[in-house]
Amino acid sequence: MALKILGVGSSMRRNSYGTKALKFILDMIKKYDTETRLLNLRETKLPLFDPDGSTEEDTSLSDELRKITDYVIWADAFVLVSPDYHGSMSGVMKNFLDHYWEEFAGKTFGYVCTSHEKGLTAMDQMRTAIRQCYGWSLPYGVSINGELDFNTKGEIINDLLVKRLDMLAHDLITYGRLIREQFLKDISSNVLNTFAARYKVS
Ligand SMILES: Cc1cc2nc3c(=O)[nH]c(=O)nc-3n(C[C@H](O)[C@H](O)[C@H](O)COP(=O)(O)O)c2cc1C
Repeated sequence: MALKILGVGSSMRRNSYGTKALKFILDMIKKYDTETRLLNLRETKLPLFDPDGSTEEDTSLSDELRKITDYVIWADAFVLVSPDYHGSMSGVMKNFLDHYWEEFAGKTFGYVCTSHEKGLTAMDQMRTAIRQCYGWSLPYGVSINGELDFNTKGEIINDLLVKRLDMLAHDLITYGRLIREQFLKDISSNVLNTFAARYKVS
Protein backbone atom coordinates (compact mmCIF):
# COMPACT_ATOMS: atom_id res chain seq x y z
CA MET A 1 0.00 0.00 0.00
CA ALA A 2 1.13 3.59 -0.58
CA LEU A 3 1.75 4.86 2.93
CA LYS A 4 0.08 8.21 3.62
CA ILE A 5 2.26 10.68 5.47
CA LEU A 6 1.06 13.92 7.05
CA GLY A 7 3.74 16.49 7.86
CA VAL A 8 2.66 18.98 10.52
CA GLY A 9 4.54 22.27 10.82
CA SER A 10 3.87 24.38 13.89
CA SER A 11 6.10 27.42 13.82
CA MET A 12 4.47 30.85 13.92
CA ARG A 13 7.39 32.37 11.98
CA ARG A 14 6.94 33.27 8.31
CA ASN A 15 10.36 31.97 7.22
CA SER A 16 10.39 29.07 9.63
CA TYR A 17 13.41 26.77 9.47
CA GLY A 18 11.24 23.95 10.75
CA THR A 19 8.67 24.33 7.99
CA LYS A 20 11.46 24.43 5.39
CA ALA A 21 12.93 21.26 6.87
CA LEU A 22 9.48 19.64 6.84
CA LYS A 23 9.12 20.31 3.09
CA PHE A 24 12.59 18.84 2.62
CA ILE A 25 11.64 15.65 4.50
CA LEU A 26 8.35 15.28 2.63
CA ASP A 27 10.31 15.49 -0.65
CA MET A 28 12.61 12.74 0.63
CA ILE A 29 9.60 10.66 1.65
CA LYS A 30 8.13 10.95 -1.87
CA LYS A 31 10.98 8.70 -3.11
CA TYR A 32 9.21 5.80 -1.40
CA ASP A 33 5.80 4.31 -2.16
CA THR A 34 3.94 7.12 -0.37
CA GLU A 35 1.44 9.94 -0.59
CA THR A 36 2.29 13.08 1.38
CA ARG A 37 0.40 16.11 2.63
CA LEU A 38 1.63 19.19 4.44
CA LEU A 39 -0.31 20.88 7.21
CA ASN A 40 1.17 24.22 8.24
CA LEU A 41 -0.60 25.29 11.42
CA ARG A 42 0.54 28.88 10.90
CA GLU A 43 -1.58 29.06 7.74
CA THR A 44 -4.40 26.62 8.47
CA LYS A 45 -5.76 27.92 11.75
CA LEU A 46 -7.12 25.28 14.04
CA PRO A 47 -9.60 26.65 16.60
CA LEU A 48 -8.57 26.42 20.22
CA PHE A 49 -9.69 23.03 21.46
CA ASP A 50 -13.04 23.28 23.19
CA PRO A 51 -14.23 20.05 24.85
CA ASP A 52 -17.82 21.32 24.67
CA GLY A 53 -17.50 21.54 20.91
CA SER A 54 -18.91 25.05 20.56
CA THR A 55 -16.34 25.82 17.83
CA GLU A 56 -18.12 23.31 15.59
CA GLU A 57 -20.91 25.87 15.19
CA ASP A 58 -18.52 28.60 14.08
CA THR A 59 -18.65 27.94 10.34
CA SER A 60 -15.55 29.93 9.36
CA LEU A 61 -13.45 27.90 11.78
CA SER A 62 -15.18 24.58 11.32
CA ASP A 63 -14.05 24.43 7.67
CA GLU A 64 -10.48 24.44 8.92
CA LEU A 65 -11.29 21.93 11.65
CA ARG A 66 -12.95 19.61 9.15
CA LYS A 67 -10.04 19.85 6.72
CA ILE A 68 -7.49 19.08 9.42
CA THR A 69 -9.57 16.22 10.82
CA ASP A 70 -9.81 14.71 7.33
CA TYR A 71 -6.02 14.95 7.03
CA VAL A 72 -5.48 13.30 10.42
CA ILE A 73 -7.85 10.41 9.64
CA TRP A 74 -6.29 10.02 6.17
CA ALA A 75 -2.72 9.71 7.50
CA ASP A 76 -0.96 6.43 8.30
CA ALA A 77 2.10 8.15 9.80
CA PHE A 78 3.14 11.66 10.80
CA VAL A 79 6.15 13.96 10.92
CA LEU A 80 5.60 16.47 13.73
CA VAL A 81 7.82 19.55 13.57
CA SER A 82 7.90 22.09 16.36
CA PRO A 83 10.09 25.02 17.31
CA ASP A 84 11.45 24.94 20.83
CA TYR A 85 9.36 27.52 22.70
CA HIS A 86 10.54 27.74 26.33
CA GLY A 87 11.72 24.13 26.27
CA SER A 88 8.29 23.02 25.04
CA MET A 89 6.46 22.32 21.82
CA SER A 90 4.68 25.32 20.27
CA GLY A 91 1.19 26.21 21.46
CA VAL A 92 -0.39 25.45 18.07
CA MET A 93 1.19 21.98 18.08
CA LYS A 94 -0.19 21.25 21.56
CA ASN A 95 -3.58 22.53 20.45
CA PHE A 96 -3.42 20.28 17.37
CA LEU A 97 -2.64 17.25 19.56
CA ASP A 98 -5.42 18.15 22.00
CA HIS A 99 -8.01 17.88 19.22
CA TYR A 100 -7.36 14.21 18.50
CA TRP A 101 -6.96 10.96 20.38
CA GLU A 102 -8.11 7.69 18.82
CA GLU A 103 -7.15 9.04 15.40
CA PHE A 104 -3.49 8.69 16.43
CA ALA A 105 -3.68 5.11 17.68
CA GLY A 106 -1.72 2.52 15.71
CA LYS A 107 0.10 5.20 13.69
CA THR A 108 3.80 6.05 13.75
CA PHE A 109 5.29 9.46 14.49
CA GLY A 110 8.67 11.05 13.72
CA TYR A 111 9.83 14.28 15.39
CA VAL A 112 11.87 17.32 14.42
CA CYS A 113 12.60 20.34 16.60
CA THR A 114 14.20 23.67 15.69
CA SER A 115 16.11 24.92 18.69
CA HIS A 116 19.38 26.44 19.85
CA GLU A 117 19.56 23.71 22.49
CA LYS A 118 18.64 20.52 20.59
CA GLY A 119 14.98 20.71 21.64
CA LEU A 120 14.99 17.33 23.36
CA THR A 121 12.41 18.35 25.95
CA ALA A 122 10.05 19.65 23.25
CA MET A 123 10.34 16.37 21.32
CA ASP A 124 9.86 14.35 24.51
CA GLN A 125 6.65 16.25 25.20
CA MET A 126 5.28 15.47 21.76
CA ARG A 127 6.31 11.83 22.25
CA THR A 128 4.54 11.71 25.62
CA ALA A 129 1.32 13.14 24.19
CA ILE A 130 1.40 10.64 21.33
CA ARG A 131 2.10 7.72 23.65
CA GLN A 132 -0.90 8.80 25.73
CA CYS A 133 -3.01 8.45 22.57
CA TYR A 134 -1.57 4.98 21.79
CA GLY A 135 0.53 6.25 18.90
CA TRP A 136 4.00 4.80 18.21
CA SER A 137 7.10 6.99 18.08
CA LEU A 138 10.49 6.63 16.47
CA PRO A 139 12.95 6.43 19.37
CA TYR A 140 14.99 9.41 18.18
CA GLY A 141 14.25 12.87 16.83
CA VAL A 142 16.13 15.32 14.63
CA SER A 143 17.35 18.65 16.02
CA ILE A 144 17.86 21.66 13.79
CA ASN A 145 19.77 24.80 14.68
CA GLY A 146 18.43 27.10 11.99
CA GLU A 147 21.13 29.75 11.85
CA LEU A 148 23.90 27.12 11.62
CA ASP A 149 22.17 24.52 9.46
CA PHE A 150 20.69 26.78 6.74
CA ASN A 151 22.26 29.38 4.43
CA THR A 152 20.66 32.73 3.64
CA LYS A 153 18.89 31.22 0.60
CA GLY A 154 17.06 28.82 2.92
CA GLU A 155 19.05 25.76 1.85
CA ILE A 156 20.35 23.13 4.30
CA ILE A 157 24.15 23.34 4.45
CA ASN A 158 24.79 20.68 7.10
CA ASP A 159 25.44 17.26 5.50
CA LEU A 160 25.01 15.48 8.83
CA LEU A 161 21.56 16.98 9.19
CA VAL A 162 20.64 15.82 5.68
CA LYS A 163 21.73 12.29 6.68
CA ARG A 164 19.60 12.39 9.85
CA LEU A 165 16.57 13.62 7.92
CA ASP A 166 17.13 10.89 5.33
CA MET A 167 17.25 8.31 8.13
CA LEU A 168 14.06 9.72 9.64
CA ALA A 169 12.31 9.52 6.27
CA HIS A 170 13.46 5.92 5.76
CA ASP A 171 12.60 4.73 9.26
CA LEU A 172 9.22 6.45 9.35
CA ILE A 173 8.20 4.69 6.15
CA THR A 174 9.63 1.31 7.20
CA TYR A 175 8.28 1.16 10.76
CA GLY A 176 5.18 3.18 9.90
CA ARG A 177 4.16 0.62 7.30
CA LEU A 178 4.80 -2.38 9.59
CA ILE A 179 2.85 -0.89 12.47
CA ARG A 180 -0.06 0.35 10.39
CA GLU A 181 -0.47 -2.91 8.50
CA GLN A 182 -0.38 -4.95 11.72
CA PHE A 183 -2.81 -2.59 13.44
CA LEU A 184 -5.33 -2.81 10.56
CA LYS A 185 -4.90 -6.60 10.45
CA ASP A 186 -5.54 -6.84 14.20
CA ILE A 187 -8.61 -4.61 13.95
CA SER A 188 -10.20 -6.88 11.37
CA SER A 189 -9.21 -10.10 13.13
CA ASN A 190 -11.31 -12.02 15.63
CA VAL A 191 -8.45 -12.14 18.11
CA LEU A 192 -9.44 -9.92 20.99
CA ASN A 193 -6.35 -9.77 23.19
CA THR A 194 -4.53 -7.26 20.95
CA PHE A 195 -3.86 -3.60 21.48
CA ALA A 196 -5.85 -2.85 18.30
CA ALA A 197 -8.96 -4.79 19.34
CA ARG A 198 -10.24 -1.88 21.45
CA TYR A 199 -10.45 0.23 18.27
CA LYS A 200 -12.83 -2.16 16.53
CA VAL A 201 -15.98 -0.40 15.35
CA SER A 202 -18.87 -2.36 16.82
C1 LIG B 1 8.42 32.25 22.44
C2 LIG B 1 9.74 31.64 22.06
C3 LIG B 1 10.40 30.85 22.97
C4 LIG B 1 11.63 30.27 22.63
N1 LIG B 1 12.25 29.47 23.54
C5 LIG B 1 13.41 28.86 23.21
C6 LIG B 1 14.05 27.98 24.12
O1 LIG B 1 13.59 27.76 25.22
N2 LIG B 1 15.21 27.39 23.71
C7 LIG B 1 15.76 27.61 22.48
O2 LIG B 1 16.79 27.04 22.16
N3 LIG B 1 15.16 28.45 21.60
C8 LIG B 1 14.01 29.06 21.93
N4 LIG B 1 13.40 29.90 21.04
C9 LIG B 1 14.00 30.08 19.72
C10 LIG B 1 13.40 29.15 18.66
O3 LIG B 1 13.23 27.85 19.14
C11 LIG B 1 14.33 29.09 17.46
O4 LIG B 1 14.50 30.39 16.95
C12 LIG B 1 13.83 28.16 16.38
O5 LIG B 1 14.82 28.04 15.41
C13 LIG B 1 12.58 28.68 15.70
O6 LIG B 1 12.21 27.76 14.71
P1 LIG B 1 11.43 28.23 13.40
O7 LIG B 1 12.42 28.94 12.52
O8 LIG B 1 10.93 26.96 12.76
O9 LIG B 1 10.34 29.14 13.84
C14 LIG B 1 12.19 30.51 21.36
C15 LIG B 1 11.51 31.33 20.45
C16 LIG B 1 10.30 31.88 20.79
C17 LIG B 1 9.58 32.75 19.78
